[in-house]
Amino acid sequence: MNRFEGKVAIVTGAASGMGEMEARIIAAEGGQVILTDVARELGEKVAADIGDAALFMHHDVADEARWSEVVETARERFGPPTVLINNGGVGAYGGIHEITADYMRRIMEINFMGGFFGIRAVLPSMQERGGGAIVNISSGLATTSLAGYFPVGVSKWAVRGMTRLAAKDLAPFNVRVNTVFPGAIDTPSLVQSVRDNAKALIPIGRAGGADECARVVTFLASDEASYVSGAEVMVDGAMLC
Ligand SMILES: NC(=O)c1ccc[n+]([C@@H]2O[C@H](COP(=O)([O-])OP(=O)(O)OC[C@H]3O[C@@H](n4cnc5c(N)ncnc54)[C@H](O)[C@@H]3O)[C@@H](O)[C@H]2O)c1
Repeated sequence: MNRFEGKVAIVTGAASGMGEMEARIIAAEGGQVILTDVARELGEKVAADIGDAALFMHHDVADEARWSEVVETARERFGPPTVLINNGGVGAYGGIHEITADYMRRIMEINFMGGFFGIRAVLPSMQERGGGAIVNISSGLATTSLAGYFPVGVSKWAVRGMTRLAAKDLAPFNVRVNTVFPGAIDTPSLVQSVRDNAKALIPIGRAGGADECARVVTFLASDEASYVSGAEVMVDGAMLC
């Protein structure tokens, strides 16, 4: 398949896990991709391994000013980006009664505002090209409420809400916005106790592979999903259905 032929994509948090897999799939299917992450060494290695179709940029998604540089570099190097995967994010734990306001603010800045900045930065390129596709990575946590998961849970509920509202706002520009809810995916971010108890916790009996989630994300980012917008796709082995 060459679903990304002629397309330029930005994938955040692409130095490892699902973001890395998404960048690899996009390049393998003919696209050109800017990988961004705060993990410089890892990100540079992944981009070098992908080859000429990839470029790594060090970027904290919460840094709004740097978003314009990322998009400008994408345009200069490859052309206007029309695919954005807001994947970079962090797990963050504690109850509302335990965390500080500064901690909460920082988690919202990364997990929620990062994606918001990204959408606004990339939108002009999408409009110029007559459309685009955005996939926001939320979490199964945005379908439920677990004690002790307040910061990550609230931030991922916000990503869910942003996706639905942005899908409505951006449909007239032919920009699709979808979200994926990973359950327990075996990446460096997976909580160890979930990995250890996967058989008991997950109906399908195991954690998912980064590639198993990335394939769903890249489907939504491709023209195969040309009439899918505002969708919420669980990738969780039936854990939260
Ligand atoms: N693994 C899971 O089970 C699971 C479950 C639900 C949601 N998610 C979400 O999936 C996404 C990908 O995570 P993953 O599981 O592949 O984990 P991962 O740790 O392998 O990848 C996340 C990447 O994001 C990067 N990152 C962290 N903070 C950043 C920032 N401020 N700016 C830019 N990059 C940043 C990290 O350096 C890392 O490379 C995240 O948004 C995560 O919250 C993962």
